[in-house]
Amino acid sequence: MQLRLTRPDDWHLHLRDGAALAAVLGDTAARFGRAIVMPNLKPPVTTVALAQAYRNRILAALPPGARFEPLMTLYLTERTPPFEIEAAVRSGCVHAVKYYPAGATTNADHGVADWRRVRPTLAAMERLRLPLLLHGEVTDADVDAFDRERVFVERELQPLRREFPGLRLVLEHVTTAEAVDFVRGAGPDTAATITAHHLLWNRNALFLGGLRPHAYCLPVLKRERHRQALVAAATGGEPRFFLGTDSAPHARAAKESDCGCAGIYTAHAAIELYAEAFEAAGRLDRLEAFASWHGADFYGLPRNGGTITLERRAWTVPATLPFGDGELVPMRAGQTVAWRLVPSA
Ligand code: NCD
Ligand code: ZN
Repeated sequence: MQLRLTRPDDWHLHLRDGAALAAVLGDTAARFGRAIVMPNLKPPVTTVALAQAYRNRILAALPPGARFEPLMTLYLTERTPPFEIEAAVRSGCVHAVKYYPAGATTNADHGVADWRRVRPTLAAMERLRLPLLLHGEVTDADVDAFDRERVFVERELQPLRREFPGLRLVLEHVTTAEAVDFVRGAGPDTAATITAHHLLWNRNALFLGGLRPHAYCLPVLKRERHRQALVAAATGGEPRFFLGTDSAPHARAAKESDCGCAGIYTAHAAIELYAEAFEAAGRLDRLEAFASWHGADFYGLPRNGGTITLERRAWTVPATLPFGDGELVPMRAGQTVAWRLVPSA
Protein backbone atom coordinates (compact mmCIF):
# COMPACT_ATOMS: atom_id res chain seq x y z
CA MET A 1 0.00 0.00 0.00
CA GLN A 2 1.21 3.51 -0.81
CA LEU A 3 0.20 6.87 0.58
CA ARG A 4 0.86 10.13 -1.23
CA LEU A 5 0.79 13.37 0.75
CA THR A 6 1.34 17.03 0.04
CA ARG A 7 4.93 17.53 1.25
CA PRO A 8 4.57 18.06 5.02
CA ASP A 9 6.21 20.66 7.28
CA ASP A 10 7.64 20.26 10.78
CA TRP A 11 6.40 23.08 13.00
CA HIS A 12 8.84 22.39 15.88
CA LEU A 13 12.36 21.10 15.26
CA HIS A 14 15.81 21.19 16.89
CA LEU A 15 18.59 21.24 14.30
CA ARG A 16 21.51 22.18 16.59
CA ASP A 17 24.62 23.63 14.92
CA GLY A 18 27.99 22.73 13.42
CA ALA A 19 28.74 19.04 12.92
CA ALA A 20 25.53 18.02 14.71
CA LEU A 21 23.48 20.14 12.29
CA ALA A 22 25.22 18.57 9.31
CA ALA A 23 24.49 15.09 10.72
CA VAL A 24 20.74 15.52 11.20
CA LEU A 25 19.56 18.06 8.60
CA GLY A 26 19.29 15.57 5.73
CA ASP A 27 16.74 13.46 7.62
CA THR A 28 14.39 16.41 7.93
CA ALA A 29 15.02 17.79 4.44
CA ALA A 30 14.19 14.39 2.88
CA ARG A 31 10.69 14.51 4.36
CA PHE A 32 9.65 18.08 5.06
CA GLY A 33 9.42 21.21 2.93
CA ARG A 34 9.90 23.60 5.84
CA ALA A 35 10.51 23.50 9.56
CA ILE A 36 10.16 25.94 12.42
CA VAL A 37 13.71 25.83 13.80
CA MET A 38 14.13 26.16 17.56
CA PRO A 39 16.53 28.85 18.82
CA ASN A 40 17.90 27.07 21.91
CA LEU A 41 21.52 27.06 20.79
CA LYS A 42 24.43 27.99 23.06
CA PRO A 43 24.30 30.98 23.07
CA PRO A 44 20.60 31.26 22.15
CA VAL A 45 19.33 32.90 18.95
CA THR A 46 18.01 36.11 20.49
CA THR A 47 18.25 38.61 17.63
CA VAL A 48 17.29 38.85 13.98
CA ALA A 49 20.96 39.08 13.04
CA LEU A 50 21.72 35.80 14.88
CA ALA A 51 18.68 34.15 13.27
CA GLN A 52 19.82 35.22 9.80
CA ALA A 53 23.33 33.90 10.42
CA TYR A 54 21.92 30.59 11.74
CA ARG A 55 19.64 30.34 8.70
CA ASN A 56 22.65 30.73 6.42
CA ARG A 57 24.50 27.95 8.27
CA ILE A 58 21.48 25.67 7.84
CA LEU A 59 21.22 26.43 4.11
CA ALA A 60 24.95 25.80 3.72
CA ALA A 61 24.63 22.40 5.45
CA LEU A 62 21.81 21.15 3.19
CA PRO A 63 22.58 18.07 1.10
CA PRO A 64 23.00 18.89 -2.61
CA GLY A 65 19.67 19.14 -4.43
CA ALA A 66 17.58 19.42 -1.24
CA ARG A 67 14.73 21.89 -1.29
CA PHE A 68 14.10 22.85 2.29
CA GLU A 69 13.26 26.16 3.90
CA PRO A 70 14.20 26.81 7.52
CA LEU A 71 11.65 29.07 9.23
CA MET A 72 13.55 30.89 11.95
CA THR A 73 12.53 31.78 15.51
CA LEU A 74 13.83 34.17 18.14
CA TYR A 75 14.52 33.12 21.71
CA LEU A 76 12.55 35.41 24.00
CA THR A 77 14.52 36.77 26.95
CA GLU A 78 13.54 39.29 29.59
CA ARG A 79 15.53 41.82 27.57
CA THR A 80 14.02 41.26 24.09
CA PRO A 81 12.91 44.78 23.10
CA PRO A 82 9.76 45.53 21.06
CA PHE A 83 11.94 46.86 18.22
CA GLU A 84 13.47 43.39 17.80
CA ILE A 85 9.92 42.12 17.14
CA GLU A 86 9.45 44.79 14.47
CA ALA A 87 12.78 43.80 12.91
CA ALA A 88 11.76 40.13 13.01
CA VAL A 89 8.57 40.81 11.08
CA ARG A 90 10.43 43.01 8.58
CA SER A 91 13.12 40.35 8.05
CA GLY A 92 10.73 37.94 6.34
CA CYS A 93 12.74 34.95 7.65
CA VAL A 94 11.73 35.02 11.34
CA HIS A 95 8.30 33.45 11.75
CA ALA A 96 7.83 33.17 15.50
CA VAL A 97 9.27 33.85 18.95
CA LYS A 98 9.96 31.04 21.42
CA TYR A 99 9.08 31.30 25.09
CA TYR A 100 11.03 29.05 27.44
CA PRO A 101 10.16 29.37 31.11
CA ALA A 102 13.59 29.97 32.62
CA GLY A 103 15.25 26.63 33.35
CA ALA A 104 12.41 24.47 31.97
CA THR A 105 14.44 22.38 29.52
CA THR A 106 17.66 22.02 27.48
CA ASN A 107 19.39 25.43 27.16
CA ALA A 108 16.51 27.33 28.74
CA ASP A 109 18.61 29.29 31.24
CA HIS A 110 18.11 32.54 29.35
CA GLY A 111 14.34 32.13 29.29
CA VAL A 112 11.66 34.24 30.92
CA ALA A 113 10.86 33.75 34.60
CA ASP A 114 7.41 35.30 34.15
CA TRP A 115 5.70 36.55 30.98
CA ARG A 116 4.38 39.53 32.96
CA ARG A 117 7.96 40.90 32.80
CA VAL A 118 7.88 41.20 29.00
CA ARG A 119 4.48 42.80 28.43
CA PRO A 120 5.65 45.50 25.94
CA THR A 121 7.32 42.85 23.78
CA LEU A 122 4.23 40.63 23.85
CA ALA A 123 2.09 43.65 22.96
CA ALA A 124 4.28 44.25 19.89
CA MET A 125 3.84 40.60 18.88
CA GLU A 126 0.09 40.87 19.33
CA ARG A 127 -0.03 44.01 17.21
CA LEU A 128 2.17 42.53 14.46
CA ARG A 129 0.58 39.03 14.62
CA LEU A 130 3.92 37.28 15.19
CA PRO A 131 3.21 33.92 16.90
CA LEU A 132 4.54 33.13 20.38
CA LEU A 133 5.57 29.48 20.72
CA LEU A 134 5.28 28.23 24.28
CA HIS A 135 7.17 25.56 26.11
CA GLY A 136 4.21 25.08 28.43
CA GLU A 137 5.59 23.86 31.72
CA VAL A 138 6.01 25.54 35.09
CA THR A 139 9.42 25.04 36.63
CA ASP A 140 8.60 25.16 40.34
CA ALA A 141 10.41 22.34 42.10
CA ASP A 142 7.36 21.74 44.29
CA VAL A 143 5.09 20.93 41.32
CA ASP A 144 5.07 17.25 40.40
CA ALA A 145 7.05 16.65 37.17
CA PHE A 146 4.00 15.03 35.55
CA ASP A 147 1.73 17.99 36.42
CA ARG A 148 3.90 20.82 35.11
CA GLU A 149 2.04 21.26 31.83
CA ARG A 150 -1.42 21.18 33.41
CA VAL A 151 -0.36 23.72 36.03
CA PHE A 152 1.18 25.94 33.32
CA VAL A 153 -2.12 25.97 31.45
CA GLU A 154 -4.00 27.05 34.59
CA ARG A 155 -1.54 29.51 36.08
CA GLU A 156 0.19 31.02 33.08
CA LEU A 157 -1.61 30.32 29.84
CA GLN A 158 -5.15 31.20 30.80
CA PRO A 159 -4.16 34.64 32.15
CA LEU A 160 -1.83 35.23 29.16
CA ARG A 161 -4.65 34.36 26.75
CA ARG A 162 -6.99 36.80 28.57
CA GLU A 163 -4.52 39.66 28.73
CA PHE A 164 -3.44 39.41 25.07
CA PRO A 165 -6.55 38.17 23.28
CA GLY A 166 -5.11 38.87 19.83
CA LEU A 167 -1.69 37.27 20.44
CA ARG A 168 -1.13 34.26 18.22
CA LEU A 169 -0.10 31.34 20.46
CA VAL A 170 1.19 27.85 19.74
CA LEU A 171 1.31 25.56 22.74
CA GLU A 172 4.11 23.28 21.70
CA HIS A 173 4.41 19.53 22.10
CA VAL A 174 1.19 19.18 24.09
CA THR A 175 1.16 16.11 26.31
CA THR A 176 -2.02 16.29 28.39
CA ALA A 177 -5.78 16.15 27.98
CA GLU A 178 -5.94 19.50 29.82
CA ALA A 179 -3.73 21.20 27.21
CA VAL A 180 -5.83 19.73 24.39
CA ASP A 181 -9.02 21.01 26.05
CA PHE A 182 -7.51 24.46 26.48
CA VAL A 183 -6.57 24.71 22.81
CA ARG A 184 -9.99 23.47 21.68
CA GLY A 185 -11.72 26.11 23.74
CA ALA A 186 -9.39 29.01 22.97
CA GLY A 187 -10.46 30.31 19.55
CA PRO A 188 -8.70 30.77 16.21
CA ASP A 189 -5.45 32.38 17.46
CA THR A 190 -4.41 29.42 19.64
CA ALA A 191 -2.93 26.24 18.20
CA ALA A 192 -0.82 23.28 19.33
CA THR A 193 1.81 20.96 17.92
CA ILE A 194 1.91 17.25 18.74
CA THR A 195 4.97 14.99 18.50
CA ALA A 196 5.05 11.46 17.09
CA HIS A 197 6.56 10.06 20.30
CA HIS A 198 3.75 11.45 22.46
CA LEU A 199 1.23 9.83 20.07
CA LEU A 200 2.97 6.44 20.18
CA TRP A 201 4.26 6.16 23.75
CA ASN A 202 2.88 6.64 27.20
CA ARG A 203 5.07 6.97 30.28
CA ASN A 204 5.50 3.23 30.64
CA ALA A 205 8.04 3.56 27.80
CA LEU A 206 10.36 5.22 30.32
CA PHE A 207 10.48 2.11 32.48
CA LEU A 208 10.20 -0.77 30.01
CA GLY A 209 12.30 -3.47 31.69
CA GLY A 210 14.57 -0.80 33.20
CA LEU A 211 15.25 2.93 33.00
CA ARG A 212 15.13 4.12 29.35
CA PRO A 213 17.02 7.38 28.85
CA HIS A 214 16.21 7.47 25.12
CA ALA A 215 12.50 7.77 25.94
CA TYR A 216 13.13 10.80 28.15
CA CYS A 217 12.01 14.14 26.77
CA LEU A 218 10.31 17.28 28.02
CA PRO A 219 7.48 17.59 28.58
CA VAL A 220 7.88 14.07 29.94
CA LEU A 221 5.64 11.27 28.59
CA LYS A 222 2.30 11.05 30.37
CA ARG A 223 -0.15 8.28 31.24
CA GLU A 224 -2.25 6.43 28.65
CA ARG A 225 -5.38 8.57 29.15
CA HIS A 226 -3.41 11.61 27.97
CA ARG A 227 -1.89 9.79 25.00
CA GLN A 228 -5.41 8.90 23.88
CA ALA A 229 -6.47 12.53 24.15
CA LEU A 230 -3.53 13.53 21.92
CA VAL A 231 -4.41 10.87 19.35
CA ALA A 232 -8.00 12.13 19.28
CA ALA A 233 -6.79 15.73 18.76
CA ALA A 234 -4.26 14.85 16.05
CA THR A 235 -6.56 12.57 14.10
CA GLY A 236 -9.74 14.55 14.64
CA GLY A 237 -9.33 16.84 11.65
CA GLU A 238 -9.28 19.92 13.89
CA PRO A 239 -7.31 22.68 12.13
CA ARG A 240 -5.53 24.05 15.20
CA PHE A 241 -3.59 20.85 15.88
CA PHE A 242 -0.63 20.15 13.64
CA LEU A 243 2.64 18.28 13.29
CA GLY A 244 5.71 19.33 15.28
CA THR A 245 8.23 16.54 15.84
CA ASP A 246 10.32 18.18 18.58
CA SER A 247 13.06 15.94 17.21
CA ALA A 248 15.83 16.82 19.67
CA PRO A 249 19.14 15.04 19.05
CA HIS A 250 21.66 14.55 21.84
CA ALA A 251 24.87 12.54 21.74
CA ARG A 252 24.43 9.08 23.17
CA ALA A 253 26.86 9.81 26.00
CA ALA A 254 24.81 12.84 27.08
CA LYS A 255 21.65 10.73 27.33
CA GLU A 256 23.18 7.63 28.90
CA SER A 257 24.49 9.55 31.84
CA ASP A 258 24.05 10.13 35.55
CA CYS A 259 22.00 13.22 34.61
CA GLY A 260 20.75 12.49 31.10
CA CYS A 261 19.53 15.18 28.71
CA ALA A 262 15.89 15.48 27.65
CA GLY A 263 15.14 14.97 23.96
CA ILE A 264 14.18 12.21 21.53
CA TYR A 265 15.51 12.01 17.98
CA THR A 266 12.74 11.20 15.49
CA ALA A 267 13.73 13.06 12.30
CA HIS A 268 15.07 9.85 10.67
CA ALA A 269 11.52 8.41 10.55
CA ALA A 270 9.32 11.34 11.47
CA ILE A 271 6.45 11.18 9.01
CA GLU A 272 6.62 7.39 9.00
CA LEU A 273 6.06 7.31 12.78
CA TYR A 274 3.10 9.68 12.49
CA ALA A 275 1.69 7.37 9.78
CA GLU A 276 1.86 4.50 12.28
CA ALA A 277 -0.02 6.51 14.89
CA PHE A 278 -2.72 7.56 12.42
CA GLU A 279 -3.03 4.02 11.08
CA ALA A 280 -3.45 2.64 14.61
CA ALA A 281 -6.30 5.13 15.10
CA GLY A 282 -7.88 4.08 11.79
CA ARG A 283 -7.46 7.64 10.46
CA LEU A 284 -4.76 7.54 7.79
CA ASP A 285 -7.13 9.70 5.74
CA ARG A 286 -6.52 12.58 8.20
CA LEU A 287 -2.69 12.43 8.18
CA GLU A 288 -2.26 14.84 5.27
CA ALA A 289 -4.31 17.64 6.83
CA PHE A 290 -2.43 17.31 10.15
CA ALA A 291 1.02 17.04 8.57
CA SER A 292 0.77 19.27 5.50
CA TRP A 293 -2.14 21.72 5.73
CA HIS A 294 -3.07 22.89 9.21
CA GLY A 295 0.30 24.36 10.18
CA ALA A 296 0.79 26.29 6.96
CA ASP A 297 -2.75 27.62 7.22
CA PHE A 298 -2.19 28.79 10.82
CA TYR A 299 1.09 30.54 9.92
CA GLY A 300 -0.51 32.14 6.85
CA LEU A 301 1.98 30.45 4.52
CA PRO A 302 1.11 28.62 1.29
CA ARG A 303 0.85 24.83 1.51
CA ASN A 304 3.79 23.07 -0.14
CA GLY A 305 3.55 22.34 -3.86
CA GLY A 306 5.21 18.92 -4.07
CA THR A 307 4.34 15.55 -2.59
CA ILE A 308 6.01 12.68 -0.74
CA THR A 309 5.10 9.00 -0.95
CA LEU A 310 5.04 6.51 1.91
CA GLU A 311 4.89 2.79 1.46
CA ARG A 312 3.63 0.27 4.00
CA ARG A 313 6.79 -1.77 4.12
CA ALA A 314 8.62 -2.33 7.41
CA TRP A 315 12.29 -1.46 7.80
CA THR A 316 14.70 -1.70 10.70
CA VAL A 317 16.05 1.50 12.26
CA PRO A 318 19.84 1.39 12.83
CA ALA A 319 20.98 0.97 16.44
CA THR A 320 22.85 4.28 16.23
CA LEU A 321 23.31 7.14 13.76
CA PRO A 322 26.43 9.29 13.30
CA PHE A 323 26.29 12.59 15.20
CA GLY A 324 29.33 14.82 14.82
CA ASP A 325 32.22 13.08 16.51
CA GLY A 326 29.81 10.87 18.48
CA GLU A 327 26.62 8.97 17.77
CA LEU A 328 22.98 9.21 18.70
CA VAL A 329 20.33 6.60 19.43
CA PRO A 330 17.22 7.31 17.33
CA MET A 331 13.65 6.42 18.28
CA ARG A 332 12.95 2.73 17.54
CA ALA A 333 16.70 1.96 17.38
CA GLY A 334 17.15 -1.67 16.29
CA GLN A 335 13.39 -2.10 15.85
CA THR A 336 11.06 -1.78 12.91
CA VAL A 337 8.99 1.11 11.58
CA ALA A 338 5.94 0.01 9.58
CA TRP A 339 6.07 2.77 6.95
CA ARG A 340 8.89 3.68 4.64
CA LEU A 341 9.59 6.86 2.71
CA VAL A 342 9.79 6.19 -1.02
CA PRO A 343 12.85 8.08 -2.31
CA SER A 344 11.72 10.84 -4.69
CA ALA A 345 12.79 10.34 -8.30
C1 NCD B 1 14.60 19.82 23.69
C2 NCD B 1 16.09 19.92 23.35
O1 NCD B 1 16.81 18.96 23.57
O2 NCD B 1 16.51 20.97 22.85
N1 NCD B 1 14.38 18.67 24.50
C3 NCD B 1 13.22 17.99 24.67
O3 NCD B 1 13.15 17.09 25.49
N2 NCD B 1 12.15 18.29 23.94
C4 NCD B 1 14.15 21.07 24.34
C5 NCD B 1 12.66 21.19 24.38
O4 NCD B 1 12.00 21.36 23.37
O5 NCD B 1 12.11 21.10 25.50
ZN1 ZN C 1 11.58 21.30 21.48
